[in-house]
Amino acid sequence: MTAEILQLLNVESAYGPIKAIRGVSLKVRQGEIATVLGSNGAGKTTILKTISGIIDPRKGSVQFKGMDITAKDPAFIVQQGLSHVPEGREVFPLLSVKDNLVMGAYTRQDRDGVARDMETVFGYFPILRERAGQDAGLLSGGQQQMLAISRAIMAAPQLILLDEPSLGLSPKLTKEIFEIVVRINRERGTTILLVEQNANMALNAADYGYVLENGRIVMEDRCDRLREKDDIKEFYLGMKDDGVRGERRWKKKKTWR
Ligand SMILES: Nc1ncnc2c1ncn2[C@@H]1O[C@H](COP(=O)(O)OP(=O)(O)OP(=O)(O)O)[C@@H](O)[C@H]1O
Ligand SMILES: [Mg+2]
Repeated sequence: MTAEILQLLNVESAYGPIKAIRGVSLKVRQGEIATVLGSNGAGKTTILKTISGIIDPRKGSVQFKGMDITAKDPAFIVQQGLSHVPEGREVFPLLSVKDNLVMGAYTRQDRDGVARDMETVFGYFPILRERAGQDAGLLSGGQQQMLAISRAIMAAPQLILLDEPSLGLSPKLTKEIFEIVVRINRERGTTILLVEQNANMALNAADYGYVLENGRIVMEDRCDRLREKDDIKEFYLGMKDDGVRGERRWKKKKTWR
């Protein structure tokens, strides 16, 4: 079996008195797409922030490629080959699209590789090439998500953490972005840990999934098996497997676009 690239053991993180994750253990295997599903406030973002060093956990450990990265400096963690695409994108709005991409590669010395990866991301998202000279703040929400993912690729990571790429996007754009996420995994061999409320999209894209409720993992399995479980169908996929939840969220948050 493939070895795990990332492992969390009994991780607890809190914001003052609020315990956001309560003893989370999970593994991400080299080369797979793993997903953590959970509703609003379940602790998904906190898991990713704890992995990438933005939050220091109260307990437990985070191992990346067999190295203990628990509570290490975020810049150090990026240098080890782990990139985080945060919730709500967070591109540099006053820098051009191209300069945002260049910033993503700031730790790299291999100019040829950087130029090649820039071409690759323009291949994935041609609109970014068209807008290369424009300020990133002028892009639509979907385009900013594309840029945020592309900027992560520019660091040439082995593992990408993706926080709710579907947030605020139309079902059509969400589908496009997920297709590219799967291509990044298949074509570049990049391992991906994706957290999502949109269980329908995430379970289709990912190989292995965890279900997070109130800061605890309550279920885990291969995604093809999770999709068949009655409580997943009922609570996370809605009545029908048609992406309705995603659409509802889009309407609620459409100002994001
Ligand atoms: N900066 C903060 N200060 C205090 N409490 C916080 C903070 N950020 C998150 N929390 C709380 O921690 C818990 C987990 O939040 P988290 O953002 O990890 O959830 P989430 O699963 O990412 O939710 P969403 O789907 O809305 O993004 C929630 O109860 C939330 O209210
Ligand atoms: Mg979140």
